[in-house]
Amino acid sequence: MTPVKIGILGLGTVGCGTINVLARNGTEIARRAGRDIQVVAAAARDIQRERECDCSQIRLTTDPAEVVNDPEVEVVVELMGGTDLALSLVLAAIDAGKHVVTANKALIALHGNGIFERAQEKGVMVAFEAAVAGGIPIIKAIREGLAGNQIEWLAGIINGTGNFILSEMRDKGRDFEDVLAEAQALGYAEADPTFDVEGIDAAHKLAILASIAFGIPLQFDRVAVEGISDITREDVGFAAELGYRIKHLGIARRTPKGYELRVHPTLIPERRLIANVDGVMNAVLVHADAVGPTLYYGAGAGAEATASAVVADLVDVVRALTTDPENRVPHLAFQPDALSDKPVLDLAEVETSFYLRLRTQDRPGVLADITRILGEHGISIEAILQREPDPERGEATIIMLTHKVREGAMNEAIAAIEALDHLLTPITRIRMEGLAR
Ligand code: NDP
Ligand code: HSE
Repeated sequence: MTPVKIGILGLGTVGCGTINVLARNGTEIARRAGRDIQVVAAAARDIQRERECDCSQIRLTTDPAEVVNDPEVEVVVELMGGTDLALSLVLAAIDAGKHVVTANKALIALHGNGIFERAQEKGVMVAFEAAVAGGIPIIKAIREGLAGNQIEWLAGIINGTGNFILSEMRDKGRDFEDVLAEAQALGYAEADPTFDVEGIDAAHKLAILASIAFGIPLQFDRVAVEGISDITREDVGFAAELGYRIKHLGIARRTPKGYELRVHPTLIPERRLIANVDGVMNAVLVHADAVGPTLYYGAGAGAEATASAVVADLVDVVRALTTDPENRVPHLAFQPDALSDKPVLDLAEVETSFYLRLRTQDRPGVLADITRILGEHGISIEAILQREPDPERGEATIIMLTHKVREGAMNEAIAAIEALDHLLTPITRIRMEGLAR
């Protein structure tokens, strides 16, 4: 049989990783796919630059549209990133009747609804396994492996760069900026690393996970987002004293009123497996009604780990080349006419426990005022830790863990406490999750 000919847009970390994996494992991959997969064309901004992969047998161009329009190319693999040019190239490929594989979570989270609709009309596949959690086959696991379940919630460490930074800060006391620079050098970070640090990349991925878990349209704009840039070593230390780790989690939960979609730093009990997922590794814990909890773990970023997911998608596409488009796995797991229109909840409606760190003047009555305000807002305290006050400065640091409370009530209580004149700095608050059920 003739090989399936593919064109790759982007020869960076993932593009070269994909070419290298296809070259090294070509025979094994062909045994699975039923046909050889051959890279015939590729685009990059600078085609003179030396690459991390052998491009000597590939037609190179600086114009990605040339790859899309190349009559020999049957499958377009978008590994450039960005959302404007990438969107027009992917739509052009679909309109030309070509299947698409992409690792671009921003593209799918922001424009996936339209892309999948167009792909459905044209009878082509758009595969995006690499868009979430790097090399972990989490899309396939949820979309196909858990198809018999009602998924109740999922919680994941879904940004490798952020987890790498938090782990290095905690274990080696390294500085934020220094670890971020290393993550960039290793090819983990996004082109704009604020996407990693401010939680935007994790929010893109969470929007995708929630869509395939619950059968809802992609709704990136409804994800509540907080990054890791405000996490201090002090909070990491207090959390450890109390038996917790701080992880940046993406959480999606089904509730009777609607869906929670949020990414933020989270205290989780250190005995949970997911609390011990460190470095660039990712993990997604899925709680489903029939199977119960399942945990998926692996490298969340990096050249060959991500290429593993890209190539798995290519194998799926090659196998599907001869199947009837109506009988393929739906892009978003559920049939397009069976998506739920239940709302995504405002963060103020979400209930969680909280870690609070307060810096106050060391005066009688301070703690009483704080606990009174919490009580007035229906917030009960699970644990309190007070550092021995600094007598020279007349300051005290108080750590509180609360029981579950509606976020709106916590916002009001924090505003009232911060209005007390003995509060020295704004309150630090970090949400907590038990992740037991
Ligand atoms: P890189 O920045 O390493 O590579 C991007 C490639 O695209 C480069 O080769 C670049 O060319 C090329 N490119 C960009 N713009 C153009 C353009 N206008 N015309 C032609 N070529 C262009 O990115 P990554 O490989 O890290 O990421 C690619 C995608 O994969 C992104 O969507 C990212 O979010 C996603 N992803 C990345 C992971 C990772 O671990 N890095 C993991 C999972 C997903 P040149 O080299 O000449 O500049
Ligand atoms: N920048 C992303 C991360 C790449 O660090 O997780 C993988 O999606």
